[in-house]
Amino acid sequence: MTRLRGLERKRPGQLLQMRKAGLLVGRVLAALAEHAAPGVTTGELDRLARELLAEAKAASSFLGYGAAFGLPPYPAVTCISVNDEIVHGIPGERVLAAGDLVSVDFGASVDGWHGDSARTFGIGDLAPEAAALCETTRVAMWDGIAAGRVGGRVGDISHAIEASIDAHVHQYGIVAEYTGHGIGTAMHQPPDVPNYGRAGRGERILDGVCLAIEPMVTLGSADAATLADEWTVVTRDRSWAAHWEHTVAFTGAGLWVLTAEDGGEAELTARGIPFAPLGD
Ligand code: MF3
Ligand code: CO
Repeated sequence: MTRLRGLERKRPGQLLQMRKAGLLVGRVLAALAEHAAPGVTTGELDRLARELLAEAKAASSFLGYGAAFGLPPYPAVTCISVNDEIVHGIPGERVLAAGDLVSVDFGASVDGWHGDSARTFGIGDLAPEAAALCETTRVAMWDGIAAGRVGGRVGDISHAIEASIDAHVHQYGIVAEYTGHGIGTAMHQPPDVPNYGRAGRGERILDGVCLAIEPMVTLGSADAATLADEWTVVTRDRSWAAHWEHTVAFTGAGLWVLTAEDGGEAELTARGIPFAPLGD
């Protein structure tokens, strides 16, 4: 099959632009995690994100999203998914309580270049199995990131995520309907980056490609359903879910995790992967 066009490849100056968006996204997520506490509503967290966006003169990647393909336009700047909600939870009146497992997903663009990231955290202390789910998902994301390289293929990342999750004694669910994606001048670009698959398959990763890598993992079955709001995705068995995501730039010199405050230095170096920031 012929392809109309390949993946969007960024020049060094464009990666620096993407880093601006990525750093903003990372810092806003950190602020939201800091602010989250028992008694705080998910809507309050979304309002804080809106304020920080406005301060930075950046645009939401999420607000209004979906209208182009027949969904109700997404009404918020964050997705906040609690407990058995997997992704795309709409912030609102829900009051967070101690022990809740909260996934916050946030995307923004600066001068037309997008960053997209998600993290999961607990409100107060988590039950041990919820804490393990969160950590398993975070580590799977980093193992997936570390498996990507220029000259490799998207399937290398997918396989590493799956292997990382499957290395645990507990049988976690890997949500299949939602995937990572290319990112750059739009939030969602080709290719899809599935969270399971075979190494050596899929699109080739070329110099300057940026991917959002985002495993969604459940404590039980991975079967998902969408609520009547047409956005909120929940587990059918009501088991809890976690979601971690980073936007990653791949160059011949190595990797740069654009939405991580340290650019990914700590996690990449721990895995023996070249950390290759541009001018930062
Ligand atoms: N950030 C999500 C993703 O990781 C997409 C959010 S959907 C939106 O791909 F409607 F909120 F934009
Ligand atoms: Co994404």
